[in-house]
Amino acid sequence: MSSAVASPLDKAVGFYQAPIGKKAVMAVTGVILFGYVVAHLLGNLQIYSADRQQINQYAAFLHDPSHAGFLWGARTFLLAAVLLHMVAATQLWIQNRSARPVRYVKKDDVPTAYAARTMIWSGPIIAAFVVFHVLHLTAGTVLPLQELGPNRPDVRANVIAGFQHPAVAGFYVLAMLLLCLHLYHGVWSMFQSVGVSHPRYTIWLKRFAALSALLIALGNISIPVAVLAGLLTN
Ligand code: HEM
Repeated sequence: MSSAVASPLDKAVGFYQAPIGKKAVMAVTGVILFGYVVAHLLGNLQIYSADRQQINQYAAFLHDPSHAGFLWGARTFLLAAVLLHMVAATQLWIQNRSARPVRYVKKDDVPTAYAARTMIWSGPIIAAFVVFHVLHLTAGTVLPLQELGPNRPDVRANVIAGFQHPAVAGFYVLAMLLLCLHLYHGVWSMFQSVGVSHPRYTIWLKRFAALSALLIALGNISIPVAVLAGLLTN
């Protein structure tokens, strides 16, 4: 006789199969990736420090062989978050399309509806950007990388040399604009998925989503723009 009590694994699979399960996975992985993007921006902004070696010292700290376990642990964790985010997004999109073949748009909220429609293509373009970016500044496949010594990348020189190519700088700016749209809608959807969507707070949650997305994009965009304008030099 089979038991009628579902195992925790059955319950987890059942939860994931419903749209709310996939939205929960997207919300949790989205928060992790949002945290990474904020931390990475704070790291990148050190390029403006009066101490021209500050960003390189930060990179040397991250690349120190005694932190290798932490670095690879963090990379694996982030990659898992990216993959789960993409799989859940794709499955949700397919599920939504078959459930609602005729799309609707709430006419009173054009920016949100526009950002929502862009998610399915801004996501893959941002993923393609990250692959290009890692080849550019971590692997050195796009342009040769300079080093100050073993495990000591000359991040300042590499970033500036890269953005002196207008095509590279332009691609970064475009990717950051898409990231801005993606984060705006993503952060707002995340609040809805976790149930923080009381009408009284809606306007503040949307403002938080818009402001954080804008600050992240503008902070990053300022770097290629400063290089092209000749304000950041080696
Ligand atoms: C102008 C904007 C950006 C600049 C100047 C920048 C700079 C850098 C640099 C210098 C590295 C290599 C660090 C090192 O080897 O120590 C790096 C790695 C990386 N960046 Fe960015 N970044 C930018 C935007 C972004 C954005 C928006 C994302 C994500 C959406 C991102 C994701 C990554 C990832 C995943 C790595 C690889 C980290 C690793 O090697 O473990 N970056 N970035």
